Amino acid sequence: MPEQVPSIVILISGTGSNLQAIVNACAQQAWAARVAAVISNRADAPGLGFAAERGIACEVLDHRDAPSREDYDRELARRIDAHAPAVVVLAGFMRLLTPWFVQRYEGRLINVHPSLLPAFAGLHTHRRALEAGVKLHGATVHLVTSEVDAGPIVAQAAVPVLDDDTEASLAARVLEQEHLIYPQAVRALLEGRLRVQGQRVRVLDAVEQGR
Ligand code: GAR
Repeated sequence: MPEQVPSIVILISGTGSNLQAIVNACAQQAWAARVAAVISNRADAPGLGFAAERGIACEVLDHRDAPSREDYDRELARRIDAHAPAVVVLAGFMRLLTPWFVQRYEGRLINVHPSLLPAFAGLHTHRRALEAGVKLHGATVHLVTSEVDAGPIVAQAAVPVLDDDTEASLAARVLEQEHLIYPQAVRALLEGRLRVQGQRVRVLDAVEQGR
């Protein structure tokens, strides 16, 4: 029998570069966990190809087939629960989640958002950052609560906004940081190293955890 380690389920809608960063970190850093499944709401999400190549179970649950948002989330939860995950990772999963779904996974549901929250919650963050003229932009990893893009912050990384930036160049600079902070945050959550008090999260290192 293979050793049973905690499972991770990752939800995606698109490219899946954060999914890749997490799968690679899990393997390279020999996490005591495995990515058990990737679920996408879009059949054409490129991230599915990467996951399938790695032998990870892939599923598509198209939101257009669901009669309502509640129905979709209940079926999504059924599929997630089949893997009994310790952690559910939103990696560019571009869907609003029902309060029922969020509550079901509260404390083990984590998201990356392409801005320095609480600035620029919602969509088109890079365009809005350029329009607002901010000099610093970045990425945030947060625990998911029923308020969209507002859960306790686990990690952030800032990048400069350069004079000649376009939406694409700024997005690429931010994404590079997402790939660094997101795997670390997922690992800390898996290893029980997050201490949440209200909106504040303390991330313990392994030594502190052992104390
Ligand atoms: C990432 O930039 C992520 O922060 C963003 O979607 C992109 C997914 O890229 N997520 C959100 O906007 C969630 N509100 P990826 O598919 O290459 O990981």
